[in-house]
Amino acid sequence: MRTTVGIIGAGPAGLLLARLLRNAGIDSVVLESRDRAYVERRQRAGILEQGTVDVLRAAGAGERMDREGLRHDGIELRFERERHRVDFPARTGGSSVLVYAQTEVCKDLIALQLKEGGPLLFGAEALAVEGALTDRPRVRFRYEGHEGHEDVLDCDYVVGCDGFRGVARKAVPAALSRVFERTYPFGWLGILADVAPSHDELVYARHERGFALLSMRSPAVSRLYLQVPEGTEAGEWADEEIWDELERRFETGDDWRLERGPVTSKSVTPMRSYVHEPMRYGRLFLAGDAAHIVPPTGAKGLNLAVGDVVTFARALTHLGDTGSAERLDAYSEACLRRVWQAERFSYDMTTLLHRAPGATPFEDRIQLARLRRVATSRAAETDLAEGYTGFPLE
Ligand code: APR
Ligand code: PHB
Repeated sequence: MRTTVGIIGAGPAGLLLARLLRNAGIDSVVLESRDRAYVERRQRAGILEQGTVDVLRAAGAGERMDREGLRHDGIELRFERERHRVDFPARTGGSSVLVYAQTEVCKDLIALQLKEGGPLLFGAEALAVEGALTDRPRVRFRYEGHEGHEDVLDCDYVVGCDGFRGVARKAVPAALSRVFERTYPFGWLGILADVAPSHDELVYARHERGFALLSMRSPAVSRLYLQVPEGTEAGEWADEEIWDELERRFETGDDWRLERGPVTSKSVTPMRSYVHEPMRYGRLFLAGDAAHIVPPTGAKGLNLAVGDVVTFARALTHLGDTGSAERLDAYSEACLRRVWQAERFSYDMTTLLHRAPGATPFEDRIQLARLRRVATSRAAETDLAEGYTGFPLE
């Protein structure tokens, strides 16, 4: 097979990149190791920054998002039984976010790609990226049904959108790779429940027993998370135990109540900060989780992936329009400036709201002082609101 851009991975990064390139008249092929059903049902986060909404709409992928997405103008911070709303438009000059699940973004992009785009091969597992330093890189892959036979995709460029456990990053020589990471001694136990959300905006609760988050997928489906010790298995928690613990951590001084309902999905997400530098090696470019991971606290993962692929598509278009590779050459630095701002914000929100095992009384007081600062200082509330609603694309 032969194409201009070989894309490994059909998550949000790979799917949106294929759409952006198609709209720019640049051909691509997407190789996805899993099947369509797996990709479309994989539960991830659900907060789209305004910039992401604008990109999806401009790419012709925003019709259902505009119809079904829920615009949110703020979040509630909860600590010491107090409730403090962070007002996004007031602190950011009008920005807000859209609640629209990543699963839905992927469904919309897959449907468009299959209808109007280039080849999207499910069951095609990339084995290696070769020739990244030549002008003819290629991807060796194993395609379902071709057992015992390897296929090759010849490209002008390869973009690794294959997530944290993909193969693209391995094509960067260890001597050139710089990895920055932090793992956290806790994770999130997440549930989906068929019950109307108990609040009309997201609630982030810091409690001495641990963090809890109330989110949503629709007016009838709640998405909730509970901080649990690292290594926790989802099966360790019975549904009623989860509801009981959520109720404790969301406690307030007023008559607010957490409504319960049937749990339809339960899973544990580990907590990690990770950045691989550089995000480019010759004709190989890394985008999304293939290059960086943020703890989900700030809901930045998908939005960072969008920024990376928009930057690559604009750079390749610039090359075609002007013959200048300057923006391709600046890809890694441009993406990393935004990535590190999101890493800082996600780290800050995670350490602001989670009580790490073994936290000392001093650390508890500092954490509460940080929260009170956000609740009472316009400057501190603005920093959180700007981080949450998103950093501008360069
Ligand atoms: N060959 C082909 N496909 C692969 C390979 C491989 N060797 N390895 C991984 N993949 C596929 C995975 O099956 C997955 O569908 O690459 C895709 C990577 O998608 P994501 O992990 O969703 O990464 P990304 O598109 O960067 O999206 C980042 O999604 O994972 C969340 O929290 C993350 O919200 C963030 C966003
Ligand atoms: C979600 O709805 O899954 C979600 C929302 C906000 C976050 C993380 C996850 O910070």
